[in-house]
Amino acid sequence: MIIANTIKEVRLQIKAWMKEGKSIGFVPTMGFLHEGHQSLIERAKKENDKVVVSVFVNPTQFGPTEDLESYPRDFEKDTMLCEMTGADLIFHPDAKEMYEKGASTLIHVEGLTNALCGKSRPTHFGGVCLVVSKLFHIVSPDRAYFGEKDAQQLAVIKRMVKDLNFDIEIVGCPIIREVDGLAKSSRNAYLNTQERAAATILNKALTKGKETILAGETNVVKVKNEITEIICKEPLAKIDYVEIVDFDTIAPVKSIKGNILVAVAVFIGKTRLIDNFIIQA
Ligand code: PAJ
Repeated sequence: MIIANTIKEVRLQIKAWMKEGKSIGFVPTMGFLHEGHQSLIERAKKENDKVVVSVFVNPTQFGPTEDLESYPRDFEKDTMLCEMTGADLIFHPDAKEMYEKGASTLIHVEGLTNALCGKSRPTHFGGVCLVVSKLFHIVSPDRAYFGEKDAQQLAVIKRMVKDLNFDIEIVGCPIIREVDGLAKSSRNAYLNTQERAAATILNKALTKGKETILAGETNVVKVKNEITEIICKEPLAKIDYVEIVDFDTIAPVKSIKGNILVAVAVFIGKTRLIDNFIIQA
């Protein structure tokens, strides 16, 4: 497995693979890899000749009061996990390599980024789109793999790829969970024992909401209230949002039908966790 720190090294290797007619799968990450990331790498390995993983804690997607400095990092462990899972190249640039002085281009995906996480993190998706576009230009993959864990991010990237004519297939992959249902996340490392136990409330509430929809409920308010009430019973939980939207446009829906995203963001202590389910209702 190759570890590349510069854009130049990546481009040279990609060109060589392209000359050999190899297809390239790409998994962008911010590192501190777990089984969620691993599932994307495995899927990419199945569907492509070569797999590139980027490990870059992207400063432009963190707000001024967010956890950029404290974001967990363990590149040695990431390298082992990538190697074990069959990645062919890790791109591990530093911030200077990715953002040169004087860089002034921004990317804004209108509409889809205003709701859900965009409300409390107004600069977040601009940073995500900027770094993902840059990574797409550097890696030139045939396919790129994103988790449904970050469902709004997946919807925003799909829209951007259409709008900017990237010739890349975006593949959405299911959420990988702990045994007790908590969605795997690098940020789970912030939780103390009590908070870790409380964090299971997100999936418990969503599972109940899903059962209600599957039983035929189409009333948005009723399902939102049911999920909200369950989360509110957990004293360590503070809701940021409970929303039901169209998965493709992230626009509010009047009733539960079509391709629907049911998403929550909840503070457990100081840690903000997100979870969701997508349902064809
Ligand atoms: P990061 O949080 O490291 O996640 C990288 C990818 O792993 C994302 O597509 C995310 O949805 C997926 N992922 C995380 N946890 C998962 C889980 N439990 N099950 C399935 N997939 C999971 O998302 C980012 O990084 C960044 O915003 C990035 C796209 C790399 C841009 O900087």
